[in-house]
Amino acid sequence: MSSGINTTRTIKTIVNGMNTSDGDGVQLKRMLGNVQLEMLDPFLMLDAFGSDEALDYIGGFPPHPHRGFETVTYMLAGKMRHEDSVGNSGIVETGGVQWMTAGKGIIHSEMPEQTAGLLAGFQLWINLPAAEKMTPPKYQEKTATDIPLEKRDLHTSLKVIAGRTINGTQGIINNELTQPIFWDIKLTDSAIFSDIIPIEHNAFIYIIEGELAVNDHQTLVSKEQLAVLTLGGGVKFQAKGNTRFLLIAGKPINEPVARAGPFVMNNQAEIQQAFRDYQQGRFTD
Ligand code: CO
Repeated sequence: MSSGINTTRTIKTIVNGMNTSDGDGVQLKRMLGNVQLEMLDPFLMLDAFGSDEALDYIGGFPPHPHRGFETVTYMLAGKMRHEDSVGNSGIVETGGVQWMTAGKGIIHSEMPEQTAGLLAGFQLWINLPAAEKMTPPKYQEKTATDIPLEKRDLHTSLKVIAGRTINGTQGIINNELTQPIFWDIKLTDSAIFSDIIPIEHNAFIYIIEGELAVNDHQTLVSKEQLAVLTLGGGVKFQAKGNTRFLLIAGKPINEPVARAGPFVMNNQAEIQQAFRDYQQGRFTD
């Protein structure tokens, strides 16, 4: 398989996701981190949620731990309040992002800050390399207006949450560990978007609205589908009409992964340790 700098990525696989619920009955579609697509190093999970029925989200995610990775919450609509065990709190609103490095441990809740109306967004889990799994927790939290918007022409724009575009727009989130790209791209009138991303990053797209052709591949990727891309230096997409999608990519960590619920470590002994620390109240020491 060729994956040179001049190779444009194409579709490797398309994933439809699986309906499930998590937290206290929050309805969501798990796009990554299921039997269809177990992981895509360094990405461990992608959940998409979106409903204007309060019963689908009102239970939220009561206090729960995380260790060994990062969680990214990106809101398309509505408001989520988070609070953690060391006194941090905040509200992520429409268009905002919370990039949380759980590191050695955080116990937090994520609850809708609304009782009606549309709540929609994503939660992405990104692994940490072994040397950084026990790092102190930290947050990067940004509002919609903090996020750089690159307008290429009348029909092409993108919000640059992480990573650097070919035009030099730098994302608002810093992450040297997996050097992620996280772009929210909007194309109208069948516009074409192309860019260069690091050649060995694993990459996928998720379609929020509309349909998209990937590098002239015959199969269109449709709304609420995820497509894993092949390796290569370039990306090229063409909207069918009006399309909005996420392009997410990251540097693979290439280490063994041991995961159990909210803990993602390198081996079973570390997982057992995480459970012991949590049960004995030493988790966030
Ligand atoms: Co959480």
